[in-house]
Amino acid sequence: MKGVILAGGLGTRLHPLTRVTNKHLLPVYDKPMIYYPIQTLVNAGIRDILVVTGGNNAGDFLRLLGNGKEFGLEEIHYTYQEGEGGIAQALGLAEHFADGEKICVILGDNLIEKNIVKAARDFEAQPEGAKIILKEVPDPQRFGVAVRDGDRVVEILEKPKDPPSNLAVIGIYFYDEKVFEIVKGLKPSARGELEITDVNNAYIARGTMTWEILDGWWTDAGTIASLYRATRLVAEGGANKMDG
Ligand code: DAU
Repeated sequence: MKGVILAGGLGTRLHPLTRVTNKHLLPVYDKPMIYYPIQTLVNAGIRDILVVTGGNNAGDFLRLLGNGKEFGLEEIHYTYQEGEGGIAQALGLAEHFADGEKICVILGDNLIEKNIVKAARDFEAQPEGAKIILKEVPDPQRFGVAVRDGDRVVEILEKPKDPPSNLAVIGIYFYDEKVFEIVKGLKPSARGELEITDVNNAYIARGTMTWEILDGWWTDAGTIASLYRATRLVAEGGANKMDG
């Protein structure tokens, strides 16, 4: 399985911190933000990784990460997203890299306490479709939220005002090769973006979506409050642990 890190977008929710640099290069405690999703993929045994960047500072990723020696990698692939057309648009740029293989996609501002080794193994064994990971949160209206019917996830609502559950869809997704055909059929949402939630709902409609609950903490780091929370969680106990 190959890995794709989405680190485009303009990070406007972090202004003025992101006025002269890319959000994913900002520090989360003792490392740049992008280090954490890279480590998440590497810990899951994924060694073939594409970083999708964007904005004015794309060259800084290359200077910072090089060929990924710090992570034990031989090379890192890079591509560039023009503008900010949404998470699913950034994902669409990975089609050539994926080359028909299954992929694990992680948002560049998502950090986890533990690892996704079990989810990755389960998805490798899944004949087709996609897998999402859910986590109970106190503020589901900030995220994609799962609508459940018994054990089944029947729909995902993007940032609902009145959340139907407190199960957020975290920014780590597993897809088969059909994801690129789904992305090509998407229409921009009300906020003018191609939404990853629409991709996930397409798999749900086809009946090929599975889900798991994440063990350990998860946070994004795309707002001042969540960047502070991420920094505190890493400082207090560390991220990307392999035990448990
Ligand atoms: O963190 C999990 C949440 O991420 C999910 O629960 C939501 O369903 C999903 O839509 C997303 O929500 P956000 O609104 O928080 O996503 P945001 O726009 O902050 O983008 C998250 C990352 O995706 C960002 O760090 C870089 C990447 N991205 C985003 C956009 C809009 C791109 O690479 N290109 C883009 O155009």
